[in-house]
Amino acid sequence: MATIEQGTAAGVSFALTDEQKALRELARDFAAREIRPKEHEYDERMQHPADVIAKAHEVGLMNLHIPEEHGGLGLGCFDGMLVGEELYWGCSGMGTSVSANGLGSGPVVLAGSEEQKAKWLRPLIEEPLLCSFGLSEPGAGSDVASLKTTAVREGDEYVLNGSKTFITNAGYAAWTVVFAKTDPRAGAKGMSAFIVPMDTPGVSIEQHLDKMGQRSTDTSAFALQDVRIPAENRIGEEGDGFRIAMATLDFTRPGTAIGAVGVAQAAYEHSVAYAKERVTFDVPIAMHQGVNFMIADMATEIEASRLLTWQAAWMLDQGYGRKATLYSSFAKRFAADTAMKVTTDAVQVFGGYGYIKEYPVEKLMRDAKLFQIYEGTSQIQRLVIAKEIFLPKSD
Ligand code: CAA
Repeated sequence: MATIEQGTAAGVSFALTDEQKALRELARDFAAREIRPKEHEYDERMQHPADVIAKAHEVGLMNLHIPEEHGGLGLGCFDGMLVGEELYWGCSGMGTSVSANGLGSGPVVLAGSEEQKAKWLRPLIEEPLLCSFGLSEPGAGSDVASLKTTAVREGDEYVLNGSKTFITNAGYAAWTVVFAKTDPRAGAKGMSAFIVPMDTPGVSIEQHLDKMGQRSTDTSAFALQDVRIPAENRIGEEGDGFRIAMATLDFTRPGTAIGAVGVAQAAYEHSVAYAKERVTFDVPIAMHQGVNFMIADMATEIEASRLLTWQAAWMLDQGYGRKATLYSSFAKRFAADTAMKVTTDAVQVFGGYGYIKEYPVEKLMRDAKLFQIYEGTSQIQRLVIAKEIFLPKSD
């Protein structure tokens, strides 16, 4: 198994630079001022947070990984993660809405040509536009290689047909990277990636899905019916789609893991405050071991999740390539499961009040569940980890 020491020249430091501290501060301040006050209302109404997205764009908290030569900040995975924790601490629905351009634009950033980067990334910097990642289908979410959408070459165009679902921000996206089969008999090697403007004739949003949690993020289903796009919109070569999808997810999974840390941190903070103020048997409930042990475990497991995630993000930035796949999955699996446990325990700390919508933690418990599902379920992360242990791949 790859270890963190391999290839490490400069040793280990947990100290953030002044720039990183300022970036994190900016994100925390934004989350406290612009996101937290709206979290319950937007959750209740399932409201797409266009206003929050526009403000996040204005202050520079979106599209963090777009290269500098295309107008972006060109930040690495680690710096993006510092921002992500704070936004998701504010509200994971709105945090996902603001951050999901990282996933949508990931295939172009990682594998697009210079022309594609100039054409599709720069507008994201100039305007608060959204893009999305069109991988999952009604019959293929975990088993990506079995997706059914097809792309057939006709002269200088491809014609796409199929359905996509569970796609973050698709309902409001300017364009989506659609993964489709160019050779349906070739499994993972028959898949290609295409940039599809969402106003192309034949693209139709079928449903804005009504979710249990993270309700202020749009999650949509859309159909592609005889959608014609220029061949120049294909990213990489025919057959590169699966590898591009996996490399993108390797890069974004630490961002999702840190989102889970942000939610768990919020639940922990609410639990500590409530445990100090709520009195039973003549003492604050923080004095009861049944409660304070739960909170001690929360603090420990949140810190472990954060450190695993920092390590995965750091490895991606250091160019560990496929070795970072394992660490991305460690982080995503552990942080997602931790967020579920911490938020469930937070409801327990609040007792009956924890189950009531007027109090903050029931939303956090609903929100946390999604981390165990999107960008690869906790079971898929274990599958990736097991494959990397027993069938390791080099770059
Ligand atoms: N980087 C580069 N290449 C990779 C790779 C990676 N991380 N992982 C696999 N590959 C390569 C393999 O090496 C292999 O190539 P070779 O045959 O040349 O060796 C090829 O891709 C196929 O790999 P596998 O045999 O491992 O593929 P598989 O079919 O067994 O599936 C899987 C692997 C890990 C289960 C994968 O399908 C997977 O990650 N599934 C989960 C997908 C997922 O996260 N879905 C969520 C959708 S996105 C989302 O949720 C966002 C949203 O908007 C809500």
